[in-house]
Amino acid sequence: MTYWLGIDIGTGGSRALLVDAAGRVAAEQTVAHEEMAMPYPLWAEQRPADWWRAAAEAIRGVLAQHPGCTVQAVALSGQMHGLVILDSEGQVIRPSLIWCDQRSQAQVDWINSHAGPDKVLACTANPVLTGFTLPKLLWVRDHEPSNYDKVRHLLLPKDYVRYRLTGEFATEVSDASGTALFDVVNRRWSTELASAIGLDASILPPAVESTGQTGVISSEAATLTGLAPGTPVYGGGGDQAASAVGNGIVEPGIVSDTIGTSGVVFAHMDAVAYDPAGRVHTFCHAVPGKWHVMGVTQGAGLSLQWLRNQLTPGLSYDDLTAEAAQSPAGAQGLYWLPYLMGERTPHLDATLRASWVGLTAAHTRADLIRSVLEGVCYSQRDCLDIIASLNVPISSVRLSGGGAKSAFWSQLFADILGQPVSLLETQEGSAYGAALLAMTGSGHFASVPEACRATVREVSRLTPADPEFYRARHARYQALYPALAPFFRAVL
Ligand code: XUL
Repeated sequence: MTYWLGIDIGTGGSRALLVDAAGRVAAEQTVAHEEMAMPYPLWAEQRPADWWRAAAEAIRGVLAQHPGCTVQAVALSGQMHGLVILDSEGQVIRPSLIWCDQRSQAQVDWINSHAGPDKVLACTANPVLTGFTLPKLLWVRDHEPSNYDKVRHLLLPKDYVRYRLTGEFATEVSDASGTALFDVVNRRWSTELASAIGLDASILPPAVESTGQTGVISSEAATLTGLAPGTPVYGGGGDQAASAVGNGIVEPGIVSDTIGTSGVVFAHMDAVAYDPAGRVHTFCHAVPGKWHVMGVTQGAGLSLQWLRNQLTPGLSYDDLTAEAAQSPAGAQGLYWLPYLMGERTPHLDATLRASWVGLTAAHTRADLIRSVLEGVCYSQRDCLDIIASLNVPISSVRLSGGGAKSAFWSQLFADILGQPVSLLETQEGSAYGAALLAMTGSGHFASVPEACRATVREVSRLTPADPEFYRARHARYQALYPALAPFFRAVL
């Protein structure tokens, strides 16, 4: 049998997915990563070698389920924005500062004072944020100069795994968009911004379109993974762009909401549009020549994971959502602000902290859990509203990621987003999108939209039950940020 392989380097684990010529999933395997290291609040690091260990194991795992199969092509997706720096020997210099690391506000301020926020916006189509890659690199410059002096290559997380698979330094446009160094409008590195801040652009890898080829499986990687040497590897996408391909968000109209560690509302754009306040990101899509806009809640699935690990260890996510269903809508007036790792959309504020607001002795554990689920939905509603304000058409929302596995949480999304929410036959998100990009890159499908039309199917649709009820509560949730932000700024 012939298959295509999608590989996703997530935050919690790496996933490999074998897909057949009709787009059916033939095998899947996820291998967990080490816990991210958080030596200080709002710092987050992972070891690239651990991603490679997990990815190679996941690949071996899916190939073992189909001995003797042919893998036609491979593509990668992965957590975005992480800083991977390599020396002249191709060795990793230090652990990666990953997407949710928020330590680089001083470097964001430095970029804005040296290049000017208008130039940053003109060069990259976005403001620079602590979550993006460039300020993380400058943090290394400012705090670890001996490490910075060794930097010869900068890669994104999935592109480090690509390097281990192929021996080549390369990325693709959707992930490169999240570095704060990429000219999103013209789909190339912004050498102009690099020179404005004195950065040597030769450390940046070539950036192809997401269906472009980036080398082949090396004989060393073949031995480690079981893939055949010479198998072509295609660009793929940042996890959100790849997930959007897996969800069929490749034409205007339908938007997706993906609840993993982060939560992302994502819309396709045929032409570039910006939020003048920069609250949502305008990035290249994994569809060649197209763009997307997305709003990001930093602590979406992370909020539930944190609650489970700290307060209900041993309970499954199913247990948690079943318990939440015992709390009435609105969780008896309890609100959760999901700012466990600061916040991007809509506040762009790295100083924010998460909070429960409104606790009384009458509240139960069920209310705590329900308020967390509702708080994440309110934050995603903020993202959706900003995207709608850019005149991006929204006819319905496709839900995916871990959050979509819960029928209860899925219905809350419909209720709080105030939109019909549909669920898909294949809930494989980013890894599936990567497989579709491999299929398109290798010519099995003529285009990404054609790949999606042939493979992505909605299986159910949830309608908002009482949108008015949650609209009023969303307004109360929104009033909490201006009330609390000065407090967090003052205590930090
Ligand atoms: C997107 C983002 C997250 C990470 C982790 O901008 O930061 O989606 O890619 O999933």
